[in-house]
Amino acid sequence: MTGKERISLDLPRACSWEKGELSFLDQTRLPGEVVIEKQVTVSQVFDSIKNLKVRGAPAIGIAGAYGLLVGLREHLGLPAELFLKKLSDLAVYLDSARPTAVNLRWALDRMERRAYEESKKDAKEIFDLLELEAVRIHREDIECCNLIGQHGEHLIEEGMGVLTHCNAGHLAVSELGTALAPMYYANKRGRKFKIYADETRPLLQGARLTSWELSRAGLDVTLICDNMPAHLMKLGMIQLVIVGSDRVAANGDAANKIGTFGVAILADYFKIPFYVACPYSTIDPKTPNGESIPIEQRNPEEVTGFGGVMTAPEDVKVFNPAFDVTPRSLIKGYITEKGIVKPPF
Ligand code: MRU
Repeated sequence: MTGKERISLDLPRACSWEKGELSFLDQTRLPGEVVIEKQVTVSQVFDSIKNLKVRGAPAIGIAGAYGLLVGLREHLGLPAELFLKKLSDLAVYLDSARPTAVNLRWALDRMERRAYEESKKDAKEIFDLLELEAVRIHREDIECCNLIGQHGEHLIEEGMGVLTHCNAGHLAVSELGTALAPMYYANKRGRKFKIYADETRPLLQGARLTSWELSRAGLDVTLICDNMPAHLMKLGMIQLVIVGSDRVAANGDAANKIGTFGVAILADYFKIPFYVACPYSTIDPKTPNGESIPIEQRNPEEVTGFGGVMTAPEDVKVFNPAFDVTPRSLIKGYITEKGIVKPPF
């Protein structure tokens, strides 16, 4: 196992920072179109995070760190004290884009801490150090994902069926993924196995993103509807479940895309091991348990239609939580950059 081994997929990345310019792959346009969109203002970055152009817990952390730079660039003439105040305001603003994934808050806090360590410098010097910090957050995530892949790949044996929910892959992080990283590594080692991707209503991250990236990378993926896992498990088609997480509470309860909890209950019923894969930045020591994790509520229109086509009566009442919480008792282990761990973390 080495931090030096790395898989580089020939796929567009969720987020890039080149020569001071921030771009996101617009994931709302996938799988139809690959569109890279420059992010010019901080409100554009906010909207991109809120509207899921960039999404997935680690990716929005990276996007938030670079987003701060985009917002701070126009304030380099301020005295250091006012510049730092501006930074804190922008961090609060960006953090409010999405409440559940703790990686966003984690990355913004890290940027803020770095800036306050250098409060004696002028605004431009602080900005330059913040740019290095954002790039470091991004690079560390690449290393984390590769280590998660290496620590988890042995769970996937020849001939297995592996189920995943939502998209915790290359598109949700710097590159490679969390839940999908062990699959990319097992594939690299030459093992043959099948991946089943839940379509993940209402926004279809499994259909639009997971099945897209896995098939483009040459892995054996089969798309299923969200109401099919029980049937596949009963038929003996699934031997392992790996999902990502947006926030793991200190006691091990894990928030992930709505529907994950149901999959975990099914896995328990059929005695199939259920793993959560995430970097340590997803584990939040300040959140004691799942009940304290804020669950994002999203627009009812995501449920009443898709792609501009109504699939329900316009005036129907809708409940649209974006995430649910799987209790620690249903999780066999947490695949992290430090190995497969269990609480207390
Ligand atoms: O609403 P999304 O698409 O941002 O939800 C993403 C997920 O639920 C992922 O599984 C999670 O963020 C982990 S990404 C490595």
